[in-house]
Amino acid sequence: MERRFLDRLRAEVSGGADAEGALASAAHEPDGGAGASKYLLEHGTWDQMCEFLAHRSIYHLKEADPHAWAIPRLEGSVKCAFVAVEYDEYGGGRPERMHARLFEDLLRAAGLDHQYLGYLDDVPPETLATVNLMSLFGLHRNLRGALVGHFAAAEITTPPAARRMVSALKRMNAPSECVHFYAEHIEADAVHEQVLRHDVVGALLGQEPNLAGDVVFGIQATELVENRLSDHLTRHWRAGASSLPAVHDFPVNRTAPAVSRGTSADP
Ligand SMILES: [Fe+2]
Ligand SMILES: [Fe+2]
Repeated sequence: MERRFLDRLRAEVSGGADAEGALASAAHEPDGGAGASKYLLEHGTWDQMCEFLAHRSIYHLKEADPHAWAIPRLEGSVKCAFVAVEYDEYGGGRPERMHARLFEDLLRAAGLDHQYLGYLDDVPPETLATVNLMSLFGLHRNLRGALVGHFAAAEITTPPAARRMVSALKRMNAPSECVHFYAEHIEADAVHEQVLRHDVVGALLGQEPNLAGDVVFGIQATELVENRLSDHLTRHWRAGASSLPAVHDFPVNRTAPAVSRGTSADP
């Protein structure tokens, strides 16, 4: 299964050894469309927001864990910088600030299932692929360059999307815990982005230039599976359909009278 997944990913990305170019391309948002967060901001209903949170719960309830596999496989200053970012993801010594815990609080406040893998049987393959990708990269030492590329791509693309999520959630009068998770990622990931770019990716390629192709592969594969999920979500929402194969009756957001349930009309 891993071999087939990897073969397909390698066949669908353009490859190369220009890590900076690949990061710039991942960070570039196309005019007129930047995926699910843009849709949620402009047209999303509370039901669609709940669907999005259910999709993301598969990863965010274990946020940073797959990347931790890279730590023993990195050396010196690269390891040190990588761990500094992971330390933030794990709350900087404060359990209530762990990002996985913040997402658990978000799910609880939204009235959703906050158990790890609570929505495993509900999400489509497009969602599972985004999480399987990180685990696959994390489980193999020879894919550590790809895992570093994944981490960098994720941190670099997060701040603009998190900013739109904050606005979307506020427009829906979502509970403050929901807003908090994304607000936390606007500033944190702006810092993480710089550390990842220079002290992790830049320094790693200084130490081991032969890993450039793997780092680029990790960045491009991340972009590929994330765009595929984003297309799945927006295609279903535009058609007035649920993005989850099993239809869910999500809890009503009682503080959001302006957002009607079960309609894709722009409120
Ligand atoms: Fe995070
Ligand atoms: Fe981060």
